[in-house]
Amino acid sequence: MMELRLPGDKSLTHRALLLAALAEGESRLRGLLAGADPLATRDAVEALGVPVGPIPRDGGEVRVPGVGLRGLREPTEVLDGRNSGTTVRLLLGVLAGQRLVAQLTGDETLRRRPMRRVTVPLGAMGARFRELGAPGCLPIEVQGSRLRPLAHVSPVASAQVKGAILLAGLVGGVPVSVVEPGQSRDHTERLFGGLGLPVGWGQEKEGWRVWLAEPPATVPPLDLSVPGDFSSAAFFLVLGLVSGPGAAVRVVDVGLNPTRTGLLAVLARMGARFEVERASEDQCGEPVGSVVAYGSGLRGADVGAFEIPRLIDEIPILAVAAARADGVTRITGAGELRVKESDRIAALATNLRAVGVRADELPDGLEIEGTDRPLVGGVRTYGDHRIAMAFGVLGALPGNRIEIRDPAVVDVSFPGFWEILRSLSPGRERGARGGAATRDAARPTASGHAGGAGPHKGRAVDEGDAAAPRPASRHAAPRGRGPIVTIDGPAGSGKSTTARAVARRLGFRHLDSGALYRALTFALLDAGIAPDRWPQLTPADLDPFRIVLRPGDDGFAVVLDSRVLDAELRSPQVTDRVSELSQLPVVRTWLLAHQRAAGALGWLVADGRDMGTVVFPDADLKVFLTASLEERARRRLRERGITEPGTTQLKAEMRRLEARDERDQRRTLSPLRSPEGAVFVDTTQLSFDAQVEAIVRRAQDLTPS
Ligand code: S3P
Repeated sequence: MMELRLPGDKSLTHRALLLAALAEGESRLRGLLAGADPLATRDAVEALGVPVGPIPRDGGEVRVPGVGLRGLREPTEVLDGRNSGTTVRLLLGVLAGQRLVAQLTGDETLRRRPMRRVTVPLGAMGARFRELGAPGCLPIEVQGSRLRPLAHVSPVASAQVKGAILLAGLVGGVPVSVVEPGQSRDHTERLFGGLGLPVGWGQEKEGWRVWLAEPPATVPPLDLSVPGDFSSAAFFLVLGLVSGPGAAVRVVDVGLNPTRTGLLAVLARMGARFEVERASEDQCGEPVGSVVAYGSGLRGADVGAFEIPRLIDEIPILAVAAARADGVTRITGAGELRVKESDRIAALATNLRAVGVRADELPDGLEIEGTDRPLVGGVRTYGDHRIAMAFGVLGALPGNRIEIRDPAVVDVSFPGFWEILRSLSPGRERGARGGAATRDAARPTASGHAGGAGPHKGRAVDEGDAAAPRPASRHAAPRGRGPIVTIDGPAGSGKSTTARAVARRLGFRHLDSGALYRALTFALLDAGIAPDRWPQLTPADLDPFRIVLRPGDDGFAVVLDSRVLDAELRSPQVTDRVSELSQLPVVRTWLLAHQRAAGALGWLVADGRDMGTVVFPDADLKVFLTASLEERARRRLRERGITEPGTTQLKAEMRRLEARDERDQRRTLSPLRSPEGAVFVDTTQLSFDAQVEAIVRRAQDLTPS
């Protein structure tokens, strides 16, 4: 199996450099990407009076002597973002609140990209902008000023817009909020949170809201290790997937931020086999880990607007996967692609056709018909690094010959790309012609060859198995069935981990009702039924989904049609949407029958919000877990990798939980309340083992033995 460690994340590198420049004191940054885009940010930061120095290609440490939030110096030269939209848009936010005048420009492509999405909201905060070229485009002069608070509703889901406004709020010392139609990558928020800034976020009726409350006057220095860039990993993961049986590519130490990994969910729908392993420690406040992709037969899929923000940069390589999949892939709701480093919709369709793939341009996406014919031809990159790399991967597949005219453009985000690509296609003449030698920033490490026996995403099973009684339990079965223990409680009370441990101790099965809601969420998304249609769902719409709980040794496998769902249930898309679905009365009623069927024979520990009140009102032991608001907030933050939250962050999480409790309690169907006759277990002061023990003891009291 080939194992790769890839250069640092581009989005995080830009943000780390900018925040380090604004910090009070010396920051230490490791793993920065030495690509052309972040170097444009580094150069701009230096022109503003902060000496950063070289960024080593091996990820070695860079020390940045920050000058404080408003200590930047007026530049004597025009700040050139070159090809990097993130550089100029985030810089505009930083400069909006500095008392200085600066001019920003970019290369020919960047000068065509829209800037009013940031200058309009920043202008509303009080900064002044002069467009010196085409309307709405660079070059632009910014005159920073004293800023006003802002509540902005952005028509596009864009991390650059959101980041620019958050940075302006920070520098200007004023609260800001941004609502976006769907959640874009959340690196700025995470970094702010890590620095103890009062940042918050959540889904609201109008969209995804992110806010910065009254910011402090200074930012502490950063000490960060930037993980590998998932967007770079994507190229080699897809290469592994489409390289036929036996192929396997493993990428280690890569960022797994769920707002970035939407590609994995789509590939899973297409039939991809991969394994994701999350490391126990986060880096930069971001989840990291490894991903292994195994050669898989792919089928076409529909990719819709709701998932686009999470894979926006991966659509070029997704198009390559689609070109090698069986059937048609239809990508819609991706109009933003037209204003990236190139018009990626036009570039992908033109290039795919040029090498022999049927591809149609849609106003906001693409339709691609996969083929296994050899693909031969020349493509244009339009100066776009991701177009070059995507066709590089396609050209590296056996039988294909694709000529790429300006391969050096990959340096923007991935110096060393061609060397790795060549190392992954040993014994093969370069399929992607061009491949000019680039500096090697990444370290590919070969470690043997895959036997092709990767894990299976979905195991086919027989349907219709009935729940069988637990063989070796010593508990009596009241009323003709085995005992049922229900564990309910508010969000963050730890009910599902507790229930699982209690079930294991008792030798009962664990019913995780959340998995059922997740299965239905997955099924609906997979069938292309978009969340905005869910409120209108009727039981007749749900009936065709064959979801079965199949009894296993200590729990239930969730089977959709004949496929066991596992990783799919925890995909970011499902996690994001499941609570929306579980609010719907029609869904709760529909799933009631499934849950009761699982409890028909008893020997069950079931956890949820309405297990003791609605699903199993005649349960033998009903437990209601509680914990103080503060303790629950701490647990939630810990789940997100924040072990020592600042007071503001903790308070924000407490407020969120309180609001959620209130919503859960007010719901008309299955409101959160303690079941009649429930045993209260307050876990605030209890260790996990002690709380499990307390429940196990009660359950054992159920039977004389
Ligand atoms: C980025 C945000 C995205 C992405 C770009 C990097 C960032 O752009 O396409 O490559 O680091 O904020 P938009 O914010 O325009 O979607």
